[in-house]
Amino acid sequence: MSAWLEVSKLSVRFDAGEGGLLRKTQGTVHALSDIDFSLDKGETLGLIGESGSGKSTLGRAVLHLVRPSEGKVVLEGNDLTALPENAMRPFRRRMQMVFQDPFDSMNPRMTVGEVIGEPLRLQRIGSAEQRRTRSAELLARMGLDPTGMQRYPGQYSGGQRQRIAIARALATNPDLLVLDEPTSGLDVSMQARILNLLRDLQGELGLSYLFISHDLGAVAYLAKRIAVLYLGRMVEVAPTAELIAKPAHPYTASLLDALPAFSRNTASPHLPPPQGEPPSPLNPPAGCAFHPRCPRAQPICHEQRPSLAANDGARTVACHFPLPATAGDAPPRGGT
Ligand SMILES: Nc1ncnc2c1ncn2[C@@H]1O[C@H](COP(=O)(O)OP(=O)(O)O)[C@@H](O)[C@H]1O
Ligand SMILES: [Mg+2]
Repeated sequence: MSAWLEVSKLSVRFDAGEGGLLRKTQGTVHALSDIDFSLDKGETLGLIGESGSGKSTLGRAVLHLVRPSEGKVVLEGNDLTALPENAMRPFRRRMQMVFQDPFDSMNPRMTVGEVIGEPLRLQRIGSAEQRRTRSAELLARMGLDPTGMQRYPGQYSGGQRQRIAIARALATNPDLLVLDEPTSGLDVSMQARILNLLRDLQGELGLSYLFISHDLGAVAYLAKRIAVLYLGRMVEVAPTAELIAKPAHPYTASLLDALPAFSRNTASPHLPPPQGEPPSPLNPPAGCAFHPRCPRAQPICHEQRPSLAANDGARTVACHFPLPATAGDAPPRGGT
């Protein structure tokens, strides 16, 4: 049986001219290539990777806010990629996004009540009165005072605005939320409160989350499974505890070693943090895209791209020479 959400071979390319910063650059940005993953109802998949690795593009492509160049997004057996816009509408309701800086995506002249009810209005769901009632309920569920309905987003703090953004995302009763760095701009105690709120909402509403962050701590708190993105490709997907205790991809290991808070299995080999900047997605390296920064790279890594393959148990890794689970073991080639 196929999973609730199935993403296969998803790729997104941009014309370099489209992006403001790269306006004078010619070429194709390989923002995402050949992404495969699945998500169950009520599950959280965490997505980590350096800035520019394609995390936001993946979230947007799953929601069809950017057009995939190739590949499929299948929700409960429905291939969304094949649907014309009018047939897509009922699915749009079921999938919503929460952004890092919600203020950028809120009209400052709308009241908070209007902001929360906006997705319902845009989708022509309910009467104005019903939308107000729904907004007020959601505002209360977020722990905000109902008098806030008449106030403006600018009158709220960052953490409160993030609650308003979550309320807005929930207005249409979605099943899937793409949370794109939802706690990144907040101080530590506010981050913890938002993460707790998200965890409680997930339990109450049975939501599935694609939780994007460069903050592994935040991801580990919500996600049982984590995918690591490097230059638009998934390089490792593993249950959270295993990924942290014994990363198999050298890139994952170096990301973890840059974070002293994550004390991992001391037997597993440690690697220095990735050297230098990631290469440009305008011109990704041949072979394994990580090879120019990888301390374990061999000649084959310059030539042949490793595909994401079963490593041990529930883990998949795209590496010719994955790290052994314990120091001294032979690399676990050939899987289980
Ligand atoms: N609209 C666009 N036009 C051109 N390039 C883009 C566009 N959106 C994103 N990119 C490029 O795609 C790559 C991935 O970006 P993004 O998904 O925002 O990464 P992340 O969220 O991991 O920081 C980056 O190189 C970025 O510059
Ligand atoms: Mg991003």
